[in-house]
Amino acid sequence: MLSTIPPALLALLALSVAANPIVIRHSPVSLSFTRQLNVTGSNDLVLKDHARARGLAANPNGSGIPDAAVSLDVSNSALNYRLSVGIGNPATFYTLIMDTGSAVTWVGAGKAYVRTGTSVQTDNNVRVSASWFTNTMCQSVPYVSGSFSGTEFIDTVTISPGVVVSSQSIGVATTFHGFQDVDGILGLGPTNLTIGALSPSRGSAVPTITDNLFSQGTIASNMVSVSFEPTNGTSDKNGELTFGGTDSTKFTGNITFTMPVPTRASDSPITATFPASSFWGIDQSVSYGTSTSILNTTAGIVDTGTTLILIATDAFDRYRAATGAVPDNTTGLLRITPAQYADLESLFFTVGGTTFELTANAQIWPRALNSFIGGTAEDVYLIVHDLGRPSGQGLDFINGYTFLERFYAVFDTGNRCVGLATTSFTTATSN
Ligand SMILES: *[C@@H]1O[C@H](CO)[C@@H](O)[C@H](O)[C@H]1NC(C)=O
Ligand SMILES: *[C@@H]1O[C@H](CO)[C@@H](O)[C@H](O)[C@H]1NC(C)=O
Ligand SMILES: *[C@@H]1O[C@H](CO)[C@@H](O)[C@H](O)[C@H]1NC(C)=O
Ligand SMILES: *[C@@H]1O[C@H](CO)[C@@H](O)[C@H](O)[C@H]1NC(C)=O
Ligand SMILES: *[C@@H]1O[C@H](CO)[C@@H](O)[C@H](O)[C@H]1NC(C)=O
Ligand SMILES: *[C@@H]1O[C@H](CO)[C@@H](O)[C@H](O)[C@H]1NC(C)=O
Ligand SMILES: *[C@@H]1O[C@H](CO)[C@@H](O)[C@H](O)[C@H]1NC(C)=O
Repeated sequence: MLSTIPPALLALLALSVAANPIVIRHSPVSLSFTRQLNVTGSNDLVLKDHARARGLAANPNGSGIPDAAVSLDVSNSALNYRLSVGIGNPATFYTLIMDTGSAVTWVGAGKAYVRTGTSVQTDNNVRVSASWFTNTMCQSVPYVSGSFSGTEFIDTVTISPGVVVSSQSIGVATTFHGFQDVDGILGLGPTNLTIGALSPSRGSAVPTITDNLFSQGTIASNMVSVSFEPTNGTSDKNGELTFGGTDSTKFTGNITFTMPVPTRASDSPITATFPASSFWGIDQSVSYGTSTSILNTTAGIVDTGTTLILIATDAFDRYRAATGAVPDNTTGLLRITPAQYADLESLFFTVGGTTFELTANAQIWPRALNSFIGGTAEDVYLIVHDLGRPSGQGLDFINGYTFLERFYAVFDTGNRCVGLATTSFTTATSN
């Protein structure tokens, strides 16, 4: 269960947000993907995302001056988001999990790495661990952790047709565990998460794909932005990952950064509290309704790799008491009755001086998908869950995918900040 997650694994979760409010001048380019529902087990039904994203083209603005933001679609599943990324020349395409909680990009768990003329092996070994809360729906396996060790290669990476990163460090797995139906990881976390991954050249950070897109002039800002939309279906195209900027069609109003832009220091706008500070960490308070304090201002992270909104155990207990919810053994989630749902109040998340309202509808699992998680049609299941340890330990919440369905997120490596904004789906009744 979640309550047994070791802090060391928790500390490996990370997420990153970007802050510089750059608006893309051209629409993100087309995306295509397929997704497949894979249900296993009798009680614990598992949704697996077999999304396959095909690339989008960059939008150089014709002057040769970097002004392009490159977008990829990502798809939503109860487990993770998968993209297809090419490595080598000619490129072999690998299905990678998009992970804001780690920064090394690696392949080899599924499809074997194919060396081409662009592949150069270094003298380094690579070792990485990662963990995901992505299948917290599954009671018996509340989290997945994986690790790999292998060797470092420098190779050419194709993000989408025409969007190519050269001289990218890639980990090629020789041993791995914890991965199924996927070839590896696309690391979108802060660069410093790569420190320690390489040996013998340990101790220095290795540029991520986002870093290299920026340093090679393909994107104008060293940042990524993510947009997810709520879905009550099992095969919707509902996500967009944007490298190098934000997509103004995906959010409403202004983006709130973790520090007000005019006073933003260049050193560390990300929360100063460790270990959240290692990831895409923010300071946030949470209240239920107008008067019930759930969590006073504290550090946590925003993370695409987490499905639920996880809050420290003491905060979770307050939320459970406030909502009247009971634990549901089959789904592993909190359960409320339709009558309780009718009374469910909003959760308010205050970040950077702005309060983001998570409506009652946004707090529930899509009822159309109850059967996929072992639930009954009549009941209502909550997507706020227990982080598994008390508050005050430097990582007291994770705003996961179910939060990001309602709020646009920007992960800015260049300015070390996280940005959040409302979207046209923030108050949608989709669940
Ligand atoms: C479905 O999930 C099972 C268990 O994780 C896995 O062994 C199987 O390969 C998956 N099937 C597909 C088509 O992804
Ligand atoms: C391309 O982008 C650069 C940098 O933002 C800008 O100075 C230039 O005017 C743009 N050119 C066109 C044709 O939009
Ligand atoms: C990354 O780590 C290095 C070495 O520990 C440190 O000097 C640097 O400030 C860190 N950078 C960020 C952005 O945290
Ligand atoms: C966005 O910020 C600008 C500048 O501070 C302000 O004038 C505008 O009212 C804001 N818009 C919204 C929707 O808050
Ligand atoms: C937050 O701080 C206020 C003021 O100190 C206190 O009254 C309240 O109980 C705290 N809430 C939580 C959830 O700890
Ligand atoms: C749920 O599981 C707990 C622990 O296994 C057990 O004590 C409890 O009786 C179960 N409740 C229901 C309603 O099955
Ligand atoms: C599914 O979501 C759409 C909007 O996204 C909504 O109109 C519809 O009522 C929802 N269906 C169910 C069964 O909740």
